[in-house]
Amino acid sequence: MPPIRNDIAHVLISERDLQRRIGELGREISVDYRNRAPLLVCVLKGAAMFMVDLARAIDLPIAIDFLAVSSYGASTQSSGVVRILKDLDQAIDGRDILVVEDIVDTGLTLRYIVDNLRDRGPASVRICTLLLKLKQRECAIVIDYVGFEIPDEFVVGYGLDYAEIYRNLPFVGVLRPEVYRPNQVEN
Ligand code: IMP
Ligand code: MG
Repeated sequence: MPPIRNDIAHVLISERDLQRRIGELGREISVDYRNRAPLLVCVLKGAAMFMVDLARAIDLPIAIDFLAVSSYGASTQSSGVVRILKDLDQAIDGRDILVVEDIVDTGLTLRYIVDNLRDRGPASVRICTLLLKLKQRECAIVIDYVGFEIPDEFVVGYGLDYAEIYRNLPFVGVLRPEVYRPNQVEN
C-alpha cells in the first residue's frame, strides 16, 4: 500500500503545534475547573487522539467517558442527522461535563449532543473542540475552548478521517481533492 501521506496536499497544523496548543488548553482548563472534578466526554471516534493528549495535560481529578455518534459516513458533507451509536457508561446528573470534540463544522452534531446531555441534569456542560471551521454556522452554539480556527476545507489526521482512513496521521492536513473526487480530471 502507498504511504497515506501521499494523499495529503499540505500540512495545516504540525504535530509540534498541536501538542503546544493542547498543553495550553490543558492549563487553561485546569485553572477554570480548579477544585472541581469534570467528566471529559470524548465524542468518538474523531476526538480520540485529542482526548488522550488533552486529558494528560489537565492537572485535576478528571474522569473520562466516551460517546459515539453517527457522522458523515463516507461523505464530506454533514447530513444533520445524528444518532447515538454508543452512550455514556454513567449517569451525569450533578456532574461538570466537558465535551471533547475533534471539529465543529456546521455545528449540527454538537448541537444535538449538548441538548441531549443537558436533558440529563448535569451541573454544567462546556465544549472543547480542537478545530473550528471559520464559516457561517448553521446553528447557534457557544464553544468554550477552541484549539485552532481553520479555513473551511476538508481536513484529516490526528483523529479526523475520510472513509475511516488517515486518523493515525500525527498532524492535521488537507486531503488532495482527487482522493474524494477520483473522477475529476486534473489539468
Ligand atoms: P458538523 O456536524 O458539521 O459540525 O460536523 C460533525 C462531524 O463531522 C465532526 O465531529 C467530524 O467528526 C466530522 N467532520 C466535520 N468536518 C470534517 C473534516 O473537515 N474532516 C473530517 N471530519 C469532519
Ligand atoms: Mg467528531
